[in-house]
Amino acid sequence: MTTLITGGAGYIGSITTRLIRSTGRAVVVLDTLENGHRTAVGDAPFVQGDVADTELVERICKEHGVDEVVHFAAYKAVGESMENPSKYFQNNVTGSQKLFDALHRAGVERVVFSSTAGVYGTPDTVPVREDAEPRCESVYAETKLMIEKTLSWYSRTTSMRHVCLRYFNAAGASSDATLGEDWRFSQNLIPHVMKAAMGHAPALKVFGNDFPTPDGTGVRDYIHVEDLASAHVAALDHLAGKGASITCNVGTGFGTSVMDIINTTEQVTGQKVPYEIVGRRAGDPAACYADPSLITKTFGWSPTRSLEDIIATAYAWHSTHPAGHDS
Ligand SMILES: NC(=O)c1ccc[n+]([C@@H]2O[C@H](COP(=O)([O-])OP(=O)(O)OC[C@H]3O[C@@H](n4cnc5c(N)ncnc54)[C@H](O)[C@@H]3O)[C@@H](O)[C@H]2O)c1
Repeated sequence: MTTLITGGAGYIGSITTRLIRSTGRAVVVLDTLENGHRTAVGDAPFVQGDVADTELVERICKEHGVDEVVHFAAYKAVGESMENPSKYFQNNVTGSQKLFDALHRAGVERVVFSSTAGVYGTPDTVPVREDAEPRCESVYAETKLMIEKTLSWYSRTTSMRHVCLRYFNAAGASSDATLGEDWRFSQNLIPHVMKAAMGHAPALKVFGNDFPTPDGTGVRDYIHVEDLASAHVAALDHLAGKGASITCNVGTGFGTSVMDIINTTEQVTGQKVPYEIVGRRAGDPAACYADPSLITKTFGWSPTRSLEDIIATAYAWHSTHPAGHDS
């Protein structure tokens, strides 16, 4: 069995590639390296290129005997997507559609796709289930919803089957501290907390402490990146076992506030996290966390790592890789 992994040189993709290989599958990684790192792929077969290059994708599928795909490749910066929507529609939506066409022509029928909890926007109730009405509040989230819909039409009209995984907040690093996120480019909370804790940045800005949450700060669902990786293996196994197309949340089911993250970081690392409370950001929901019962029921998957594991692995990675994979 050979798995094509698009975007496999990125943060989640590299950690998932390592796990997929450990299950005995052969892999081939396709990445432009625009936001990824060749070193993060290690000795896995690698092709530098774009998912929109249909001839290249068809050639890779033939040469490597690809049976299944995990499609991570995308741009993911919410703010940038609002300033430059065309960049996101072009790369995420058009790129994915070209990829699916090439896969279809090459006879590849199983696709696992990286979607986002961002499709829920500000949900009416939490924990949020997959049947909540999508309410995208950014171009980025909309591109992911458009790709989900594109896949669902391929599944209805061809023999392709898919799993869309709606990730909540991916966090942490590999347990051996060799793969992780580059805090120089990350928009995510935990890399910013780590920067502040290690004195690489001034006080952390906490956007709002007057939300209707237990401590007033925003509540999210932080999922360890290795748990996220194992959800992809479960999704591949589901499709390989003739499972039907499905869209699932990937989260812990627990809401964690910004203050919980700060307090846990101080406990786990022994470092003070300087912070200041500033105003809320437009469009930030008070609380968004997953109801993960569908993925647990369907794949038998559930997360095994704690918030302490997330903080400890992030700390170990960032303290040894202050310039990400360029360190
Ligand atoms: N990080 C999160 O919290 C999070 C949450 C929800 C969803 N996601 C999604 O998960 C996926 C992976 O996220 P990540 O955090 O690892 O991001 P990342 O930027 O680290 O990885 C994405 C990779 O895709 C590559 N890429 C981009 N466009 C490409 C193209 N057209 N062809 C080939 N390669 C291309 C980049 O070079 C990069 O290596 C993305 O699709 C992202 O939207 C991430």
